[in-house]
Amino acid sequence: MKIFGICGSIRKDSSNWSLLKALQNDMGNHEWNLMDIAKLPYFEPENQFSENTPHIVKEFREAASAADLIVITTPEYAHGIPGILKNALEWIFCEGTMKKPVTCLIGSGQGEHSRDQLIEVLSTMDFRIGISDTMIVKGLRLNVQIDESIKELIKFR
Ligand SMILES: Cc1cc2nc3c(=O)[nH]c(=O)nc-3n(C[C@H](O)[C@H](O)[C@H](O)COP(=O)(O)O)c2cc1C
Repeated sequence: MKIFGICGSIRKDSSNWSLLKALQNDMGNHEWNLMDIAKLPYFEPENQFSENTPHIVKEFREAASAADLIVITTPEYAHGIPGILKNALEWIFCEGTMKKPVTCLIGSGQGEHSRDQLIEVLSTMDFRIGISDTMIVKGLRLNVQIDESIKELIKFR
């Protein structure tokens, strides 16, 4: 299965990024493509689908469109989705990502707000996600551990 992975934290020692890397290592039977959303510019609607659409955006869209599953790991910031993640999603969603299944792992002390916002935003963008495709992973900054319940969310749907 081809998996496109992004992380909502661009912090140097991000535990959510470590989680994504650990999944890639642990589930090496899949073809992972992890991309750094910090490379994306600020979202600009006029360049969303135009001859001026940035090349890096096209790269992200192609990778996301080619994937069988999108995996997002992210913290919650101020009871919401990190702004940089929302920015990335605004760029990435396109015809090729319609109905694309998404799994969200929220590595935060709480996380319910960002989980609910992710479901709302991703559904609005026509990705395929429900609450059962999400998990709030607590204690991630203390210990990045891949257990069976996380692995069960990384599946073909
Ligand atoms: C500005 C800011 C706001 C935060 N707000 C929340 C919050 O509302 N809910 C929560 O559970 N954690 C919150 N946190 C804690 C982060 O989610 C937590 O530190 C997380 O582990 C960071 O992920 P990372 O290690 O991948 O960078 C906040 C952190 C920061 C820096």
